[in-house]
Amino acid sequence: MEYDVIIIGSGPGGYTGAIRCAQLGLKTAIIEKYPALGGTCLNVGCIPSKALLDSSEHYYNAAHTFTQHGIKLDNLQVDLAQMISRKQDVVDQTTKGIAFLMKKNKIDTYYGLGSFVDAHTVKIAKTDGGEETIKGKNIVIATGSKPLSFPSMPVDKKRIITSTEALKLEQVPKHMIIIGAGVIGAELGSVYARLGGKVSFVEFFDSMIPTMDKTMGKELQKAIKKLGADFYFNHKVTQVENKGDEVVVSVDTPDGKQITLTGDYCLVSVGRRPYTDGLNLEAAGLKTDAKGKVEVDNNLRTSVPHIYALGDVIRGAMLAHKAEEEGTFIAETIAGQKPHIHYRLIPNVVYTWPEVAAVGYTEEEVKQQGIPYKTGSFPFKALGRARASMDIDGLVKVLAHKETDEILGVHIIGPRAADMIAEAVVAMEFRASAEDVSRMSHAHPTYTEAFKEACLAATDNRAINM
Ligand code: FAD
Ligand code: NAI
Repeated sequence: MEYDVIIIGSGPGGYTGAIRCAQLGLKTAIIEKYPALGGTCLNVGCIPSKALLDSSEHYYNAAHTFTQHGIKLDNLQVDLAQMISRKQDVVDQTTKGIAFLMKKNKIDTYYGLGSFVDAHTVKIAKTDGGEETIKGKNIVIATGSKPLSFPSMPVDKKRIITSTEALKLEQVPKHMIIIGAGVIGAELGSVYARLGGKVSFVEFFDSMIPTMDKTMGKELQKAIKKLGADFYFNHKVTQVENKGDEVVVSVDTPDGKQITLTGDYCLVSVGRRPYTDGLNLEAAGLKTDAKGKVEVDNNLRTSVPHIYALGDVIRGAMLAHKAEEEGTFIAETIAGQKPHIHYRLIPNVVYTWPEVAAVGYTEEEVKQQGIPYKTGSFPFKALGRARASMDIDGLVKVLAHKETDEILGVHIIGPRAADMIAEAVVAMEFRASAEDVSRMSHAHPTYTEAFKEACLAATDNRAINM
C-alpha cells in the first residue's frame, strides 16, 4: 500500500493529524501498537485521571460539604472497584469513538508496532501476528511518551508505581508517598487524599507545580494541605525500596540530614520521557537528541524533510492539546497550506480542586525578561457565585504590560479555572488589553466575573467588589 501520509501513533496528536489529513483529501494510514486507539491521553492519561478526579470529588463533597448544604447521608462508603470500573467505561467509550472516527474518515488503521525500514517504508509487526509493509510519501512520528523513572526509584508496578498503575489501584492507599509535586502528583495525590488516604509529597524544588507562576503553587499547596497532605520541599529522594507490604523512601533534607518515609505505595511522578523504542529511527536516517527527543524545525519537519514529528516525542509542553495543534499543523503543511501555532498561548491546566489554569507569561518570566508589567488580582471569596457554591479558595491574577496594558499572562486558581482560561486565551490571541476585558459584560453571577475584576484591578486598581 502507498499512502500520502502514514502516522505512527494514535494519541491526540496522531489521530487529530490523521483526521485533518483525511479532510484535506490525503490518503492516510495510522499505526497503533496497542489494541485501543487514543494513546496515553485517552487510555492512561487525561481521560481516566479526570474520571477519577470527578468521582473522588463527589465523594469528598458528600463526606465534607453536603451537611452544610443541608443534605444528610448515612453510611457513606467508597467503592473503589466501582470507581475504577466507571473510569474504564469512560475510557472504552472514548477510545471506541476514535476507532469510529477513523472509519468515518476512511483512514486505514493498522494495529501493531511500526518501525522504519527506510525513509519511505514502515513495517508493522501486527498485534494479531504477521507483518505488513506500507509506504508513505510523508510520515509522521507521533509516538508520545512514557513515565520517567531513575535507578534509585525502581518502578515495580506493585508498590512503586507510575500514574498508569495509580489509575487502577485495588485499595485506597493508607499512605502514598509521591515523588514529584508536579501535575501528576497534584492530580492523583488529590484523588487518593480525597478518598481518605494519607499523601506525602517529596519535591526537589521549593513548591508544588514549580514551573507555573509561584502564586499558583502556594495557593494549591494550601488547598491540598486541607486534604491532610504533607510536603517535603527542597528534599531529594535517594532510594526507594519495596519491602513487601510497605515501601521505604530515603530522602536527603535541605539541611543535609537523611530521613526515611514509610508508606504502602510510592508514586513516581518525576516527568515523562519521549518514546521512540522499537521505531528503528536510524533506518530512516534519524537520531534523537540527548534527552531522547526527535528534533524538528519550526515546521515540525525532522532532518529528513518528508518525515515530521509532533507531541510528547518532540520539544515543548507535554500536553494533549499541544499535540493536537501540531497534528493539524502538519496535515495542513503537507497539503500546501501555511498554518501557525502560537505556542506561548497554549494553556496549562491542573485538574485539582480548586483547578489551576494559566496562559502566557508567569510573573517570574516577565521579571527575568525585564518586561515592564503591572498585576491585578481578585480573590474568589469576594465573589457571590463562589460563596453560593462554597468554592471560595483561590484567585485570578492578571499580568499586563505597564505601558500598553496588553495582557501578558493570566493565572487562575479557583472553581472551573480549566474552563475559564479559554476566555483569557481568546483575549490574548486578539492582543486585548486588561481594560478591553474589563469593559466587556460578564454574566452575573459567574466565576468569570473574577477575571473581569482582576482586569479592572490591573487597569487602574479599580476592582468593584473588593
Ligand atoms: P501519546 O498520547 O503518548 O500517543 C502515542 C501513541 O503512539 C501511543 O498510543 C503509543 O502506543 C503509540 N506508539 C508508540 N510507538 C509506537 C510504534 N512504534 N508503533 C505504533 N504505535 C506506537 N495532557 C493534557 O493536555 N491534559 C490532561 O489533563 C492530561 N492529563 C494527563 C494525565 C496523566 C496521568 C498523564 C500520564 C498524561 C496526561 N496528559 C494530559 C498528557 C497527555 O496525555 C499527553 O501530552 C498526550 O497524550 C501526548 O499525545 P501524543 O499524541 O504526543 O502521544
Ligand atoms: P512534572 O514535570 O509536572 O512534575 C515532575 C515533578 O517532579 C517536578 O516538580 C520536579 O521538580 C519533580 N522531581 C523530578 N525529579 C525529582 C526527584 N528526584 N525528587 C523529587 N522531585 C523530583 O511531571 P509529571 O507530574 O510526572 O507529569 C508528566 C507530564 O505529563 C507533565 O509535564 C504534563 O505535561 C503531563 N500531564 C499533564 C496534565 C495536565 O495537563 N493536567 C496532567 C498530568 C500529566
